[in-house]
Amino acid sequence: MASRLNLRAASAGDQHALWRLHTRSITSLCQGAYSSHELRTWVELLRPEAYLPADPPRTVLVAEQEDQLVGFGQLDPVRGELEALYVSPDTVGLGVGSALLSALETLAWRANVRAMTLDASLNAEPFYRARGYVPLHAARRILTSEVHLVCTRMQKRQPLVLRSAAGEGPGQGRAPLPEP
Ligand SMILES: CC(C)(COP(=O)(O)OP(=O)(O)OC[C@H]1O[C@@H](n2cnc3c(N)ncnc32)[C@H](O)[C@@H]1OP(=O)(O)O)[C@@H](O)C(=O)NCCC(=O)NCCS
Repeated sequence: MASRLNLRAASAGDQHALWRLHTRSITSLCQGAYSSHELRTWVELLRPEAYLPADPPRTVLVAEQEDQLVGFGQLDPVRGELEALYVSPDTVGLGVGSALLSALETLAWRANVRAMTLDASLNAEPFYRARGYVPLHAARRILTSEVHLVCTRMQKRQPLVLRSAAGEGPGQGRAPLPEP
């Protein structure tokens, strides 16, 4: 990536930029995986006022490049749930998604989350697989009574080396997670 990528917590002033980026990302990058009716329904449900700074401990990180917002990700570190990860179509494939995901994973592991989970859009499944997530089962994101988006429930366990560092190596601490 040519110019420097800056990650920071989202602020109230990001509302409109986040809404625009989210809308463009879905419309441009999720086509092929979903029908135009599904994509239209999805973006019509997005509202700028919904992009308020998240209530702690939920975290929204934004990625900026040359003062332009180029991606964002949202994590609930209590559940270890990655709730959103979207990159601008102008910067797709340049490492923004990986940088955001890695930063959010670090926050989750520091919060001692045992496994990160997410509902992956079908177009994003290979991206998550390449970053250590395994599919658990097919899932649906319910948008309206008629439009349910097919997605894939995925999981990534906290790397053992980090658990060991926290004094929770094999045989210590909590019971192991069931195999996916
Ligand atoms: C999934 C997503 C977040 C990935 O973000 P990104 O910034 O493109 O990710 P990265 O650049 O870090 O990595 C993308 C991978 O695709 C490759 N790639 C190259 N060109 C690409 C392109 N035009 N489009 C997509 N991926 C491309 C990259 O080389 C990289 O491959 P790697 O695994 O070999 O490293 C982004 O594509 C996106 O916002 N998609 C639409 C929204 C979405 O589905 N979000 C997930 C909701 S669960």
